[in-house]
Amino acid sequence: MTMFRTAVAAAALLLAGCQSSENDQAGTANLQQGAAGIAPILDTPEAKDNASFARPLEARVHHVALDLTVDFDAKRIGGTAILDIDRKPDAKEIVLDDKGLEIESIADGSDEPLPWKVGATDEKLGAPLTVSLRPDTERLIIKYKSAPDAGALQWLTPEQTSGKKKPYLFSQGQAIENRTWIPTQDSPGIRQTWEATIRVPAGLTAVMSAPKSSEPITQGGESVFSYRMEHSVAPYMIAIAVGDLAFRELGPRTGVWTEPVMLDRAAAELADTEKMVAAAEKLYGPYRWGRYDLLVLPPAFPYGGMENPTLTFLTPTFIAGDKSLVGLVAHELAHSWSGNLVTNASWADSWLNEGFTSYFENRIMEAIYGPKRAAQEAALSFDDMEKARAEEKDGPNTRLNLAAAEAVPDGGASGIIYDKGAVFLRTIEKIVGRETWDAYLRSYFDRHAFQPMTSARFLADLRANLVKGDKALETKLQLDNWVYKPGLPSNVTRPDPAAFADVDKAVQAFSRGGDAPSAFAGWTTAEKLRFLNKLPRKMGTARLDALNRTLHLNEAANQEVLFAWLDLAIRNRYDPAVLALERFLTSQGRRKFVRPLIETLAEDQQWGRPIAARVYRVARPTYHPITQRDLDKLKLLA
Ligand code: BES
Ligand code: ZN
Repeated sequence: MTMFRTAVAAAALLLAGCQSSENDQAGTANLQQGAAGIAPILDTPEAKDNASFARPLEARVHHVALDLTVDFDAKRIGGTAILDIDRKPDAKEIVLDDKGLEIESIADGSDEPLPWKVGATDEKLGAPLTVSLRPDTERLIIKYKSAPDAGALQWLTPEQTSGKKKPYLFSQGQAIENRTWIPTQDSPGIRQTWEATIRVPAGLTAVMSAPKSSEPITQGGESVFSYRMEHSVAPYMIAIAVGDLAFRELGPRTGVWTEPVMLDRAAAELADTEKMVAAAEKLYGPYRWGRYDLLVLPPAFPYGGMENPTLTFLTPTFIAGDKSLVGLVAHELAHSWSGNLVTNASWADSWLNEGFTSYFENRIMEAIYGPKRAAQEAALSFDDMEKARAEEKDGPNTRLNLAAAEAVPDGGASGIIYDKGAVFLRTIEKIVGRETWDAYLRSYFDRHAFQPMTSARFLADLRANLVKGDKALETKLQLDNWVYKPGLPSNVTRPDPAAFADVDKAVQAFSRGGDAPSAFAGWTTAEKLRFLNKLPRKMGTARLDALNRTLHLNEAANQEVLFAWLDLAIRNRYDPAVLALERFLTSQGRRKFVRPLIETLAEDQQWGRPIAARVYRVARPTYHPITQRDLDKLKLLA
């Protein structure tokens, strides 16, 4: 890999990485294309990842081989990481990302160890791990362990699982957590192939975000699992889970992993997965990752879902019994194109992952469940965007391309990068027509498969392949306004006002003092959410009683509906909801649910704060480190 012909070609190769499969021949292509080729993308200021210490233009990791033992008693993962690197011939060092790793030694295979040092620690980003290179170093062999408080890892006691008998571990890499358990360059533009040998106590199963490379072996109280990802992926996409796991097939290339007692319910909810993969392929081209499996995690999982390649991770709170929340599955599946194939080069452009995916999710939902459900879900998402715009007063955080300083998303506020991003793409679809737009999108995924993407590069691609010099079209689209300006451009495509016509009437009737809608029980989940979210935020106890008694909201089985209700209830100090609230906050740890509720409670000094403190004392140990980090800021337990 060190046959550099010119400096430009060298940089190009470093950026594109050593790629191994189908569409990723970029390494070779760039040698031929030179400065005009694909690779200089990482060399532009807007592709710079301020959340990583790596300097990939000098030396970059292209393959990671892990051999790790999972130690539940010590809450550590430890062993060896072997990194294969590309480097400029005169590079003196390589910089990796490190957050709290305990490094024992670093060598390159020759007799002498390599000198290394860990720089000053930044609270968010961790620290640079700088390793000196000898002229012929092409491989780093790092012996290390993760710290017990590694941000990517949540260690569950048997009591925190559904089966109650065995411990459980899972990781969450996005956005910048994997540096707490893997010493590599943790930047989404630095794609890497990887493999792993994972040793766990016998009786537990280890699954990862890659195809299995050999059958597990159990010997001497230990089971050994092997995985290998042949495509180059962003390092945040390396994921692991270990527990008492069972598998059931859903279709020829889809299946679900979960704890045995969850298997029936999970498989029933996910019954449409195989159809979703087919629908997605029909829209935007082949699914390039082989299998599409899902892992349904214990309720402590901090996100709705995470698009780990070949193995989406899901919260169990999406199981409603009626498939009403499987938009989440469509979303994570869609990331197999937008996010995993074409990946934001830096977190400032995460709308390229999440906005595209939210749009694509809705198209999959339309294909499987029809235009009515899709239109309702799109309208709800539009409402979320409007809420975010109002909260931000159309300020700088309402731009799609975020300022570098704001740019490490944690899956929190989503109204802009998800919902405004999707509205942007829906607006283009409306202007150019669905057929033209779909053809463009499909070609976009083909052209940029396995490559990093920036806003500027997307816009240039759109202009070259869709606008093609049509001045009138260029003016109509307002592309730069959408991507770089705050607020909402005037050409926005708004949701169909008919989507919620009946529900909106019911909101008005109830707000004027009428009865709670008797049709509620028969409404779609989107209709229920629209109703609850459109009600006035301030209401008296009698009105809340009327809702709760008729609609049985404290007992809502659908977790999204329950959340929408509890949000309304606590804003009005509604005591009869407190028991349901406590149950909700102590039975699952999905950040999107627990964080806003506890924050709202904490702001209400007299009524809410004592409740928040009481609940958080019990719930904190069950929450993920990322969630604990947010909620500790409220100083509830001081
Ligand atoms: N990739 C995100 C989760 C994420 C984003 C984790 C940023 C860490 C940092 C995932 O695809 C996602 O968006 N999940 C959503 C669900 C979706 C249906 C909006 C979630 O977790 O709620
Ligand atoms: Zn997403």
